[in-house]
Amino acid sequence: MPKLGVNIDHVATIREARRTFEPDPVAAALICQLAGADAIVAHLREDRRHIQDRDIQLLREVIKIKFNLEMAATAEMVRIATKIKPGQATLVPERRQEVTTEGGLDVVSKHKSLERPIKDLKGKGIVVSLFIDPLPAQIRASAKVGAQAIELHTGRYANAGTGEEVERELKRLVDGAKLTKELKLRVHAGHGLTYQNVANVAAIKGIEELNIGHTIISRAVLVGLDKAVREMLALVRINNC
Ligand code: PXP
Repeated sequence: MPKLGVNIDHVATIREARRTFEPDPVAAALICQLAGADAIVAHLREDRRHIQDRDIQLLREVIKIKFNLEMAATAEMVRIATKIKPGQATLVPERRQEVTTEGGLDVVSKHKSLERPIKDLKGKGIVVSLFIDPLPAQIRASAKVGAQAIELHTGRYANAGTGEEVERELKRLVDGAKLTKELKLRVHAGHGLTYQNVANVAAIKGIEELNIGHTIISRAVLVGLDKAVREMLALVRINNC
């Protein structure tokens, strides 16, 4: 049964639109926790466009479920993460111009620059996950570079236009999850998942965690965060083991 990690970056995005104190992503995280979420995800970006340093410090203190810090594999972020010590760090590529994380990490060509950050994070007891496209070469390279988990990028599945494309992208995720388990890594998935498209991914054998943000916070604006989280949990908690 996959677990649900709720990404609260979008709550901080609303706050930063006015550079004020509300809505507070820490308060949002506590509501997600009360509603039954299994983890809280927050991405501290280099440009601090949404989540701030103060947020991750407070999240680490008040959240009792897993705290998954999304971050670029830079010296600055590794320094912050090893001080805060989230339960998990998910390494993502980061570009200032992008609206959201666009592609997965290119572990095949960047493995040298990932070795040190992964070692340092693991050295502090932080589980390291790499956000990658569901491609066998990237999965194998992730195992080789020392990651303990990978997060399969579901963006192409989410954006698939035709039934044929959906089937093709879903198969990539199914095969990717299978290979990842064979390599003895944990499999997570996320990006672009919605209330409408999540069921097929939640049903994939081996996927242990889904990280979902935009659709939950969007629904929360209309129906409330507690209800939005519970409705997503009902869709995610499909027994696929
Ligand atoms: N996983 C990763 C690695 C991400 O970067 C994001 C977006 O911040 C998500 C999951 C959640 O994506 P979405 O907001 O589209 O649900």
